[in-house]
Amino acid sequence: RQITLENTRVDKDGHKHFMAKEIAEQPVAVDKALRAFLDDQDVITLPEGLDFSKIERLSLVACGTAYYACMVAKYWFETIARLPVEVDVASEFRYREPPVSPGTLALFVSQSGETADTLAALRYMQGKADVIAGLVNVPESSIARESDVVLPIHAGPEISVASTKAFTCQLTVLLLLALKAAQTRGLPLPAGMPDDLRALPGLIHQSLASEVQIASAARDLATARDIIFLGRGQLYPLALEGALKLKELSYIHAEGYASGELKHGPIALIDDTVPVIVMAPKDALFEKTISNMQEVMARGGRVVLVTDPDGAREASEGTAEVITLPRAPVTLAPILYAIPAQQIAYFTAIAKGTDVDQPRNLAKSVTVE
Ligand code: G6P
Repeated sequence: RQITLENTRVDKDGHKHFMAKEIAEQPVAVDKALRAFLDDQDVITLPEGLDFSKIERLSLVACGTAYYACMVAKYWFETIARLPVEVDVASEFRYREPPVSPGTLALFVSQSGETADTLAALRYMQGKADVIAGLVNVPESSIARESDVVLPIHAGPEISVASTKAFTCQLTVLLLLALKAAQTRGLPLPAGMPDDLRALPGLIHQSLASEVQIASAARDLATARDIIFLGRGQLYPLALEGALKLKELSYIHAEGYASGELKHGPIALIDDTVPVIVMAPKDALFEKTISNMQEVMARGGRVVLVTDPDGAREASEGTAEVITLPRAPVTLAPILYAIPAQQIAYFTAIAKGTDVDQPRNLAKSVTVE
């Protein structure tokens, strides 16, 4: 049976839209996802059948927002666990007939667990990959049933078509997997991990407070025809996710780019009518992203900078708006920056008067090709 807003028993809990409710639920949802895999003694426990001592590489496959979660996970698995990762959109992967090397963990990420392309890609990998894992929100879904190992993300029912809490819960579980893989392979974890993960629900809660600033920036964004999102490193997929959310909800043309690619094309679009949203925590790549941001401002581009207090102190000059998130461990940044990505789309859609929970032409779960 299709989930519709009419037949669902989940209500909006005082919020104007399911999306607003689901954005607000993220501290609790992420806490639940964490506790499912991380105990009070800081031990990460994975389901039986998922042993990273036998894994040499990963193949991550998904669609839409779940695909961007996989792109972030690639950074984590490669930098933290030193495992090579390939990431594919399922609709391409299923017809590419990629060769599969021994020691491959094939991981399929899907909120619904029913996306037709992702399921077809999973079936292609059956009998080829060493282990097939399904990272899903719906544990009784087709992807869960056909996987060797199921990794539930515990986000709870997600009704709004645009994925929000499922994305941050996917990221949380993917990060735990990368940390466990590093431990199994005898590698040191990033300083403070996994203990710092416990701060994540609180940090998300603090990040939600930016909504006042974002709502005001959104009134200006709503008048734009095109919007560009920039990010570098683990924030690059967040630029893509920010652009996807914005076009889904507000029908404004939006593109996400790796900051370093700016000069290879998109800079030609920049003038004072094109807002540019720059996602730049004060990390090792901050100066590089800020220099791209300055190239935008030099051409009259209106910049909305999303950063932390240190970044805001250094780089606010000349920007149209600064959205300041709390100071946080570097590894957690992609999870926190999901919040403004969602809120920018939400408030721009409100300003434009579009249907937030059921955008035109989109479906929550795409069960046909
Ligand atoms: C649809 C939804 C997106 C979602 C994508 C993948 O396009 O509108 O929000 O990210 O499908 O869905 P899945 O259930 O596989 O995560």
